[in-house]
Amino acid sequence: MKVLTVFGTRPEAIKLAPIIKEMEKRDNIESVICVTGQHREMLDQVLAIFEIEPDYDLNIFQSGQSLTDITIRSMKGIEDVIKKEEPDLLLVQGDTSTVFTAALTAFYNGVKIGHVEAGLRSGNIFSPFPEEANRQLTGIVTSLHFAPTVNNKENLLKENYDADQIFITGNTVIDALGYTVTDSFEFNDKALNSIDFENNKVILLTSHRRENLGEPMKNVFSAINDVVNANDNVKVVFPMHLNPKVRELARKEFEGNENIILIEPLEYLEFSNLMSKCYFIVTDSGGIQEEAPSLEKPVLVIREETERQEGIEAGTAKLIGTKYDDVFASVNELLNDENEYSKMASSVNPYGDGKASERIVDIIVEKLK
Ligand code: UD1
Ligand code: UDP
Repeated sequence: MKVLTVFGTRPEAIKLAPIIKEMEKRDNIESVICVTGQHREMLDQVLAIFEIEPDYDLNIFQSGQSLTDITIRSMKGIEDVIKKEEPDLLLVQGDTSTVFTAALTAFYNGVKIGHVEAGLRSGNIFSPFPEEANRQLTGIVTSLHFAPTVNNKENLLKENYDADQIFITGNTVIDALGYTVTDSFEFNDKALNSIDFENNKVILLTSHRRENLGEPMKNVFSAINDVVNANDNVKVVFPMHLNPKVRELARKEFEGNENIILIEPLEYLEFSNLMSKCYFIVTDSGGIQEEAPSLEKPVLVIREETERQEGIEAGTAKLIGTKYDDVFASVNELLNDENEYSKMASSVNPYGDGKASERIVDIIVEKLK
């Protein structure tokens, strides 16, 4: 059986890598890989770490391109690959524009779709934007829904999807972490190696969501700047997403604050070890909300809603919004309230046991027989 896996951005690559590795081990699967290249450097970093060489690279990347540009250019390229390869299944992961366009193109061409990380719902179609819509639209044309958690399966059942087509698997991001985190890790990045993680509280910050660009992100950065200035021995490390709008704002807001270290996006190996060494994380990322609990790191989520409620329910993550006062208060509290900190740091990981990829590939083999 032939499985065509299509992906385009950093998080999709990280979460599909363990599945691709698992498929490579199986004699009865021919695995073909197509990247759209929606991301470029950030995607290539992950391909290098996991030693994945795509069979097709559509190279659609253009800096600052619109959602419509991404959609049109990837659909045409994916259709050519589908026609040439005639796969039995097209596999996608998550909620990006690459995911939705690949699924729609497969649907137009009569190819079955497997959707990894199916059934996450924020309850607001505009947030995350456009990901909430991408994930739901992908679900509509999917035959095999790989839901990470029970809650994700229930979301799909509420929308009347057929229970026989939904499989609870855990999230493959936990499998990916198993490849990377080690106790005695040395960073390649000089700035990181010079940080004293023992005697400082190091906050790891990431931010890139489209709905946070502009005013919300400015409020968050400004609150973080002030909270760092109001406390001793606190440092922030911010590996800046390559979106120029994020970088411009970060440079402007954090300029001159020597306790806020702005660095380039880190390779996954470096980043996951930084997560493991930091004190806590402030982020609007989806994947990081899932990784942090398995590293026992509290996460403050700078968003108004999340489709990853499991972390909130387990107590490892807190939704703090993007208003200046809320961000300042929550970050300040977690820095200074040890009880609160240890409660959040010792909660259990609800996102999986590191065996999601094996389960997903077993199901694919069984269902395509
Ligand atoms: C995309 C996904 C988002 C995902 C995020 C992960 C969509 C609509 N958005 O958002 O769901 O959470 O990836 O990071 O699919 N850039 C580079 N080089 C890169 C990557 C990005 O220069 O390797 C810059 C470019 O200027 C690009 C901009 O970042 O135009 C935004 O990239 P884009 O893929 O449109 O959206 P993201 O915000 O990265
Ligand atoms: N990540 C990384 N380097 C970085 C920042 C993040 O490797 O500098 C990883 C992180 O561990 C997680 C994934 O990228 O697995 C999350 O990607 P991102 O936040 O861009 O996207 P999202 O998960 O929000 O879709």
